[in-house]
Amino acid sequence: MADPRRGRRRRPARIPEDRGGGWTGREFEVAVGPVAHGGHCVARHEGRVVFVRHTLPGERVRVRVTEDRHPGFCRADAVEVLEAAPARVERPCPYSGPGKCGGCDWQHVRPAEQHRLKAAVVREQLVRLGGLDADDPVVAGLTVQDLPGGALRWRSRARFAVDRTGAPGLRRHRSHDVVVLDDCPITVEPAAQAVLTRRWPGAGAVDVSIDSAGAVTTTRLDRRGRPQHSEVRQVGEELPREPAGRAERRAGGRDWEVEGTGFWQVHPAAADALVTAVSGFADVRTGETVLDLYAGAGLFGGALAPAAGEEGRVVCVESDPGACAAADANLAHLPQAEVWQGEVDADGLAELLAELGPAPDVVVLDPPRAGAGKAVSRLLAGTGARAVVYVACDPAALGRDVAAFTGAGYRLADVRGFDAFPMTAHVECVALLVRADS
Ligand SMILES: C[S@@+](CC[C@H](N)C(=O)[O-])C[C@H]1O[C@@H](n2cnc3c(N)ncnc32)[C@H](O)[C@@H]1O
Repeated sequence: MADPRRGRRRRPARIPEDRGGGWTGREFEVAVGPVAHGGHCVARHEGRVVFVRHTLPGERVRVRVTEDRHPGFCRADAVEVLEAAPARVERPCPYSGPGKCGGCDWQHVRPAEQHRLKAAVVREQLVRLGGLDADDPVVAGLTVQDLPGGALRWRSRARFAVDRTGAPGLRRHRSHDVVVLDDCPITVEPAAQAVLTRRWPGAGAVDVSIDSAGAVTTTRLDRRGRPQHSEVRQVGEELPREPAGRAERRAGGRDWEVEGTGFWQVHPAAADALVTAVSGFADVRTGETVLDLYAGAGLFGGALAPAAGEEGRVVCVESDPGACAAADANLAHLPQAEVWQGEVDADGLAELLAELGPAPDVVVLDPPRAGAGKAVSRLLAGTGARAVVYVACDPAALGRDVAAFTGAGYRLADVRGFDAFPMTAHVECVALLVRADS
């Protein structure tokens, strides 16, 4: 659009490398304040906000500024701990720490404290973005629980980067530099070894996953992220074989087929824990209609279908054709379950709801990190569903979408947090929204 004041086209604003005041590289001491979303804590120095990594609330640390691109804040690493918090521990991973691998955020924190930090972040997002009161009992009582298996060797799916020499590793925080690794202690050992004990000349990245039967699939990606070649090796097997295209996963007391590269929870215990939480919140009754949006391989729809019974109806909606094929196979024995391939966006959902006929009694949604968005959340609220069960991997997206639901006649009735990503700042939540008048 022409700028009438200047008589020429406006350019989009550009953020110069260092606009905050040239602090990059500067060192100073700070008293560390509360945790914030993203794996850092908030401190202040000379009137500016400093987001500090590798520290904990209540610590006194010496920081080095790593990035200063915004007038209001800069980013820094704690490079010396002057007064340590009681929850600080030795990092179990030798590759983590200031200036090293950027894969983990909380290696220096006792796991029980990681849960408290994550709960504080979810609460803060529900208040700041969700518009809820900090004293609301649902917000104030929110906790994050751990999953079985400990804080290490839980990652069953990972993408490793590859440097120009073919050496695999992970990227430094907010950088394209690859930190070469010979192990990643949060990744299940056979999966880490399958990638990190060899070189990958010419590759840009390698995806790896291990299924519940111990089959490790590696997929080499080119420098544009396009898959090139996959192979599968059973733990203990000498020779790799061609992938069959499907991996086996176990959750909710049954086996599930997942397309080789398709979505499945990364933590081996997460799918089970989420199915239990979703089923408890949904409390599906015989004859009810359930909508499972962003359904992947049909995990939640398949788990809820028996409660709806053959008189009920479960519609799983998913955009990825491979995931839909897996969901078809997983739900084939449940006549009440259907898989619809389609986009959950404002237009797609409006069409889908019209085709569905009677409004759903229960909606389950498990969107990607960006969340469902205001338009989809409002449309779902418009159905008047008895229960909306929202599975969220980003508390900020959950906060924004909760605001859309509460603005459209719903209230947040409960939230459970799960530490499905130990040592990192990520957290999985399951929230129950019900009609405000119920
Ligand atoms: C977080 S995963 C959840 C999968 C499943 N609920 C589970 O737990 O295994 C999100 C899923 O949504 C699908 N997806 C992403 N955007 C979508 C959209 N706009 N419409 C429909 N599905 C979408 C992805 O392909 C992915 O399978």
